[in-house]
Amino acid sequence: QGDVFTYDPGFTSTASCSSTITYIDGDKGELLYRGYPIEQLADKSHHLEVCYLLLYGELPDAKQMLEFEALVTRHTMVHEQMQYFFRGFRRDAHPMATMVGVVGAMSAFYHDSTDTNDTYQREVAAIRMVAKLPTIAAMAYKYSIGQPFVYPKNTLDYAGNFLHMCFAVPAEDYVVDPILAKAMDRIMMLHADHEQNASTSTVRLAGSSGANPFACIAAGIACLWGPAHGGANQACLEMLREIGTVDRIPEFIERAKNKDDPFRLMGFGHRVYKNFDPRARVMKESADEVLGLLGIEDNETLKVAKELERIALEDPYFVEKKLYPNVDFYSGIILEAMGFPTSMFTPIFALSRTVGWISQWKEMISDPELKIGRPRQLYTGAPRRDYAEVEDR
Ligand code: SDX
Repeated sequence: QGDVFTYDPGFTSTASCSSTITYIDGDKGELLYRGYPIEQLADKSHHLEVCYLLLYGELPDAKQMLEFEALVTRHTMVHEQMQYFFRGFRRDAHPMATMVGVVGAMSAFYHDSTDTNDTYQREVAAIRMVAKLPTIAAMAYKYSIGQPFVYPKNTLDYAGNFLHMCFAVPAEDYVVDPILAKAMDRIMMLHADHEQNASTSTVRLAGSSGANPFACIAAGIACLWGPAHGGANQACLEMLREIGTVDRIPEFIERAKNKDDPFRLMGFGHRVYKNFDPRARVMKESADEVLGLLGIEDNETLKVAKELERIALEDPYFVEKKLYPNVDFYSGIILEAMGFPTSMFTPIFALSRTVGWISQWKEMISDPELKIGRPRQLYTGAPRRDYAEVEDR
């Protein structure tokens, strides 16, 4: 297999599993999908090609790409009955709450892809999830703003289809802006997989019990929602808005350094990266490009973000703790410029990460050695003792 990459974190590694899918070198700030650097993929590839790479291990040739794209396109619609599931939610439900519920219920609609012991059903489940998550996320958005659901269009590419399902209305034609579609595609690709992060570990652990793949992905969506994880993109933009102007940055930097203050710089720091998150670099370039092309390069939020990054990267506290911007620091600025509300930031992270979750689930389910199974614990509670009657307590 050539070089076996190992990451020595400098302490006894508590690696939960081995995997051939994604490699991160936290010190170097390196991220490889099946060996390919994220920077090269962001520059030369597209999300659906990266989906093929993550799912099957190699970049597709032209014929394989056409067949894969046709297969995914054919599965972008959801069962018509699912719309009634949406209608049970309050309109002001967070789209992540809706997605957890609807994705978890997919096993009630797609009985022919729930048997984890059947390799064909596993493949069908994988394609269905890659194909349908953008549709479900778009439906969650439309439902939250009281607009009618928009069906996928087979003539559009993966990212363009998602934008169309979110922003088209029956009253008028919606033409997908190729610049926004490219930026959307790059955001999806940058979020596609990331080794054994909390939500991926959740999917693997749920899958190790033999739970159906839709339930496992729903568990991953629930975990991703946390503000320390995938919810950070929404929290980061809300933080940048709260800071408001460049002159208020020092106040927030001091708060982030104050242990007695729960405030953290959202979009900063990472469990693994102790250098730049390579995705943040690409995302920052995309932010400049998209806002420039939209004619809003002097966007105050972008200005605050860049100045906050500059000040933090020079501050001894952040330098000493090796805190750098992560994938969530700039993504929200781009998504807001595209017209998404902050409540859609994490759903977009979830639909993008679905291919990573399902690839890691497939890898785990196909090799019993990789099942996390049942982790043990270090018990530090009370020693064995006899029951005490209430009058003796
Ligand atoms: C994602 O795991 C993944 O791969 C996740 C992800 C993926 O693609 O799946 O990359 C996506 O979740 C990115 C992270 C998004 N979260 C945020 O941006 C929220 C803000 N970040 C923090 O909450 C924090 O950085 C964590 C949770 C991400 C990591 O926290 P750790 O493990 O405490 O980080 P650390 O050990 O490097 O912290 C070192 C020190 C600590 O202080 P001391 O205990 O040394 O005194 O730095 C402090 C931390 O308290 N610190 C911060 C900080 N992040 C860490 N201080 C201020 N602001 C921050 N953002």
